[in-house]
Amino acid sequence: MIDYIQEIKKLKKEKNALILAHYYQISEIQDIADYVGDSLGLAQAAAETKADLIVFAGVHFMAETAKILNPNKKVVLPDLDAGCSLAASCPPVDFAKFRVKYPDHIVLSYINCTAGIKELSDVIVTSGNAVQIVESFPKDQKIIFAPDKNLGGYINQITGRNMILWDGTCEVHNQLTTESIIKLKLIHPDAQVVAHPECDGPVLALADMIGSTTAMLKYTEKTNYKKYIVASETGILYQMKKNSPEKEFLVVPKDETCSCNDCPYMKLNTLEKLYLALKIETPSIELSAQVIERAKKPILKMLDISKKMGLI
Ligand code: 13P
Ligand code: SF4
Repeated sequence: MIDYIQEIKKLKKEKNALILAHYYQISEIQDIADYVGDSLGLAQAAAETKADLIVFAGVHFMAETAKILNPNKKVVLPDLDAGCSLAASCPPVDFAKFRVKYPDHIVLSYINCTAGIKELSDVIVTSGNAVQIVESFPKDQKIIFAPDKNLGGYINQITGRNMILWDGTCEVHNQLTTESIIKLKLIHPDAQVVAHPECDGPVLALADMIGSTTAMLKYTEKTNYKKYIVASETGILYQMKKNSPEKEFLVVPKDETCSCNDCPYMKLNTLEKLYLALKIETPSIELSAQVIERAKKPILKMLDISKKMGLI
C-alpha cells in the first residue's frame, strides 16, 4: 500500500514542484498543498513561483491560467476531466458572435472561463477583485461581463452599472435555494449567512456577507458570531473549521437528500491522482504559443490592477 502523503512530499522535493490547491479540494489535498487559496491567490502564486513543475489541484481553467502564466513550465492537473460548468457555459465560438453585437463595449471576463474566452477579453476578474476592477473603469464605460450572470448581476446591483451579461451559471452555486437557507435560519436564527457571488440574486439577498472563498474565510475568522450558514461549496468549510474551531459552520444543502454541496469537478481530484500526476508528470496542460500570448494579456492586466489597488 503506497503512503501517498509521504510519496508526494518526497517527489515534491526531488522535482522542485509546487502544489497549488483550491479551497474546494478534499481536506487531505488542502493539507499537502504548498498554497491553498481562491482563484486570485492561486493565479498570483502561479505567477510568482520559481518551481520547475506545477501540480494544480483544482479545475481545468485554473491549471490553464497557471500554464498561461508559465509557458515554459509543465503544469499538471490530477484529473483532466476536472472541468467547470461555468467555463463550459460559454463556448468561444458563440461568445465571439455575441461580442460583435456590442462593438463599443470592452469585455471583462470572470477567470472561470476557457483560454479561448480569455483571448477574447480585455481584463480578467475573480470574485476577489471583480467589483474593484469594474469600479476602476469610468461610469460610462460600456462593458460586457462573461460568463457568470449571477456575479455580473451582483456587480451591476452594487455598482449601479448596466453591464451586458452572458447567460452562464455555476451548477453548484446556482442550485442553492432561498428555501434551504430560510429553513436553516429558522433552526439557527443567530447564524450569519455568508455567500459566494456565484449564487443567484434571491440567495444573495439573504446573505449578511458576500465574497470570494478567501473573503468568506477571513470574515468567519474576524467576526465573532457562533454560527455561520455557508452558501458555497463544502470544501471551504474545512479551513473555516480549522481556523475557528470554536465556531459552528453549516453548509447550505443542495437538496433534501444531501446535507453536502460538492462540486463534482473539484472532487474528481484525489490524493492518488495527485501522486500519479506528480510522479509521471501527466496529464499536462498544453496550449499553443498564440493562445498563450493572447490569453496572457488580460490576466496580467488583472494582476497589475489588483497589485495597484493593494488587493494582492
Ligand atoms: P473563488 O475564486 O472565490 O475561490 O471561486 C472559485 C470558484 O470556482 C467558485 O465556484
Ligand atoms: Fe466551476 Fe462551480 Fe465547480 Fe467553481 S464550483 S469550479 S464555478 S462548477
